[in-house]
Formats: sequence, structure tokens, C-alpha cells
Amino acid sequence: MHTPRSVRDAQVAGKRVLVRADLNVPLDDGRVADDTRIRAALPTLQWLLDHDAATIRVCSHLGRPKGPDPSFAIEPVRRMLREALPDPRLSVLENTRFNPGETANDPAFARELADGSDLFVEDAFGSVHRAHASTVGVAELLPAYAGLLLERELAELGKLLGDVARPFVLVSGGAKVEDKLGVLQHLGGKADAVLVGGKMAEQLRNDNPLPFDVVLPTDVVAASEFSADAEKREVPYDELPEGWLGLDIGPQTRAAFSAHVGGAGTIFWNGPMGVFEWPAFAAGTKAVAEAVAAADAFSVVGGADSARALQELGLADRVSWLSTGGGASLELLEGKDLPGVAVIPAAP
Ligand code: 3PG
Repeated sequence: MHTPRSVRDAQVAGKRVLVRADLNVPLDDGRVADDTRIRAALPTLQWLLDHDAATIRVCSHLGRPKGPDPSFAIEPVRRMLREALPDPRLSVLENTRFNPGETANDPAFARELADGSDLFVEDAFGSVHRAHASTVGVAELLPAYAGLLLERELAELGKLLGDVARPFVLVSGGAKVEDKLGVLQHLGGKADAVLVGGKMAEQLRNDNPLPFDVVLPTDVVAASEFSADAEKREVPYDELPEGWLGLDIGPQTRAAFSAHVGGAGTIFWNGPMGVFEWPAFAAGTKAVAEAVAAADAFSVVGGADSARALQELGLADRVSWLSTGGGASLELLEGKDLPGVAVIPAAP
């Protein structure tokens, strides 16, 4: 992946700038439930204001609507952005996914977005794995630059692809093994330990397609049924009662995973260890989050669930880098080219 040229090298004074941010935040009853991505978009916008851009039009997708849909209107996000940066030069366009041309990377929609702007700043790290009109289409029509968040994400995540301080510990969890397998395949071979929890551990226990060993849970928090207030028992993995479900890693595994993480020189963590939304099954994810935060290591955390766990525990600022990208961070670490980055000319 090449290093894209930076907005810091652009002449923006007096220019009309189109910015693609990733303001795809979780909504709860029409309200922004987590403003992390909005806050992460601010430095580039502030930089453009400070450097006398004439106008700044911000665009983003929000959710996965199939066309115009009031429940995915950008308004709550726009309101927050305006509160944070109350400058009349700043405006926020409607959800790009209200136009079917967005995901199809339709040249007509890209033209519509680009019209009236002199240059384009791509700052939506979380969306650069999508070849859409607002990520790739506009970058082919306007002089394109990387924003400050995109640059920082590429630099921090990129460190994991180079020489790393050892031991290098990968911690992976969550439900979908397919989403994470690419990263484990690409990075796992160079890691000193690959710890796997969550539902993913079950899938790998039954069938490990990886050419190396992974550290799997030795005990689990078993639940009588899939429910927040199910009866629960901490049991060795191979003593899971018939019909019960392992919904979190057990105390022995928590201690073992924490010890690995505590001794690491470099850590990448993606995905919860259990059903952490339910307090009865949150201890494993909490233990990993605390161990990652306490480690004297270069630590990177990716993915919405791990990020949320860190935020809820007040540990978000105790890791070296908390990525705003889910799929994008995984694809980068799989060694894939990101179309929204590839389209930006290289740094001189
Ligand atoms: C994300 O949340 O990972 C990005 O905003 C991309 O969203 P998408 O998966 O709907 O394209």
C-alpha cells in the first residue's frame, strides 16, 4: 500500500473542499449512541478551517439504507458536528447511501458530489475498503488528499505489518470467524501467540484451517440457554453440560490470556471474548481489555465491539491506537489494497 499525499501538503486557502468522513455512527432512537467517529473527524475539519478553506462540505454514509429512509437521515450527526465546529463555512450533505449511485460507484453521482468543490480530502478510514462514489468516484474527479485521521490510521495499523516489538500477541474474538481469518492468516504466522476467544474459538476448535497453533480457552462460562439471565456455571471446556452454551471465557483462560497480553511487546486485539453486552458474560472481554490497557506494549485495538468495550470501561485512552475502522482495519491487516487509499496520488 502506498502512502497517499496529505492534506497538509495541499493549498487549501480560498478553496472549496469536499471531505469524506466516516460518520457512520450507531444510532439509538434517532440519537447518536457513540460519537467516537464524529470526534475523530474533527481534527481534519479544524485544520481546514484554520488554513482558511473557503467552504467545507462533509459527506458520509450512515447505516445501510437501500434508498432515502428518514430513520437514517444524517441530521443528528450534522447537529453534533455543528455543535463541535460552529462555523458557517462547514456544511454536511445528506446520507450518501440515500442515492443508489453511491454503492454502485456511479459516475453521475460522483459528479454530483464533486460539483462545486476544488479538492477532495478522504478522511473516512472506516470506509476506504469500499469502492463507492464518495470514496473512489470523487477522488478520480478532484485533486485528492488524505486527511489527518486516515494518515494516522494507516501509520499506526501499518506498524503491525512491519518489524514489531516482541512478543507479538494477537487476540481475536467475536462471532464471525470468516471476517477475522484473513488477518490471522496474514499476521498470525509472525505472531508469537494467537489467542482466540468468543464464538470464533468454537469454530477453530472444530476445524483449524490455520498453519499454526492457536491458544484456545480451557474453560468457559456456561449458560443454560442463550439469555442475559440464564443460569450460569464456570466449567472446564470439556465439561460443558449437554445442551449448555459457552458464552464467555472462564477464569483460568482469563488469567492465561491476561498473562500473554501482559508480557507482550506488541498487541493487536479485535473482537470480544463472549457476549459482553450481557454483564453475566462480560468478564472475559473486560479482563482482556484491562490487560491490553495495562500492558507496557504498542497496543492496537480494532473493531466496533472491542472499541465499545474499551470505551465503556473508560480505558480507550490507555491503548496506543484505537482504530475507527472495522472492516477497513481488517482488510489493511490482511495485506489487501484499500481502493479509497489506492486512488489518492502517492506522497511526494
Ligand atoms: C463501518 O462501519 O465499518 C464502515 O462505516 C463501513 O460501513 P459498511 O460496512 O456499511 O460499508
